[in-house]
Amino acid sequence: MGFKQAKILSVSSVVPDNVLTNHDLEKMVDTSDEWITKRTGIKQRHIAPKEMKDPLIEYGSKAVVQALEKAGVKPDEVDTIVCGTISPDYFFPSTACSIATKVGCNRPFAFDYTSACSGFIYGLILANSFIVSGQSKTVVVVGGEILSRCVDWEDRGTCIIFADGVGAAVLQGSDDPNKGILATDANTDGSFKDILYLTAWEEKNTIVMKGKEVFKHAISLMANTTRTSLEKCGLTVDDVDLFIPHQANVRIINAVASNLKIPMEKLVSNVDRFGNTSSASIPIAMDEAWQEGRIKEGSVVALTALGGGITIGSAIVRF
Ligand code: UT7
Repeated sequence: MGFKQAKILSVSSVVPDNVLTNHDLEKMVDTSDEWITKRTGIKQRHIAPKEMKDPLIEYGSKAVVQALEKAGVKPDEVDTIVCGTISPDYFFPSTACSIATKVGCNRPFAFDYTSACSGFIYGLILANSFIVSGQSKTVVVVGGEILSRCVDWEDRGTCIIFADGVGAAVLQGSDDPNKGILATDANTDGSFKDILYLTAWEEKNTIVMKGKEVFKHAISLMANTTRTSLEKCGLTVDDVDLFIPHQANVRIINAVASNLKIPMEKLVSNVDRFGNTSSASIPIAMDEAWQEGRIKEGSVVALTALGGGITIGSAIVRF
């Protein structure tokens, strides 16, 4: 039997134990807790130990094991695993390949892809397409980053924002046509390449960001793609029970919600404690919201992100 759409069975997330506060950063670069709090809403972030080997594979495997347990799915039932990351431990083999073997999957279709902060949403779109087409039955989507290894720790414009973490979701076909991934929207614009990037082969390879430029585009583009996804499934902003935007900066999060006229009580924001974990930010926020009982049977959840590329995406999910 074919499926109309995929559903999210579970989400799980893992962050390093090690916490870096704004006060710690005050000792590293010319900044202040006050500036970071006011401009970004971030108070602390989790950072992998410098000496740790293969942190993305390690944290990612933990997140996948937890997500599979929550879903009641055995590792050998997973036929597909995709990982959205811009900070892999290796160019190859892919993070997805390594995680799959580490958690005990049986030779799944597995690969990484690059869509920066939109990584989790792009992964949901892949999973949905694979399940609807019949290519896959059980898909694990991983969004994970070890950005602490890609930032210039002397650049106060980026090192105060970016952080480490991993999230994973398990998806299967939805028996109920009204539940699961109801609609998605995604597009990219390579003409904005220079506002946010990470080179591969320069002498120094660290994240470069024109913060103000990214900020300006992020608000309208995330709001617009969310509206498009809602239109595609015949819903309106009023139908949304919970809004989980990419956790980039609290000013962006609040401005997107305000642009969409989504009330604060429907907004998920945890950037204060985790910083900007790029492709991991949505599953980390979703995991917390689910554990807190903010996602229930029947909840309509809207997700949206914007990342380097630029990549833009959104998804409307009914649980
Ligand atoms: O994850 C997806 C992609 N990323 C984003 O969505 C991030 C988008 N951008 C942002 O979040 C913000 O642009 C930042 C938080 C990165 C920067 O905030 P801003 O309000 O846009 O500040 P700015 O870059 O315009 O800088 C304002 C001033 C500058 O000083 P002058 O030129 O006015 O004297 C900066 O040099 O603040 C200075 N500044 C800092 N001061 C203290 C920049 N970074 C810092 C800092 N501490 N960490």
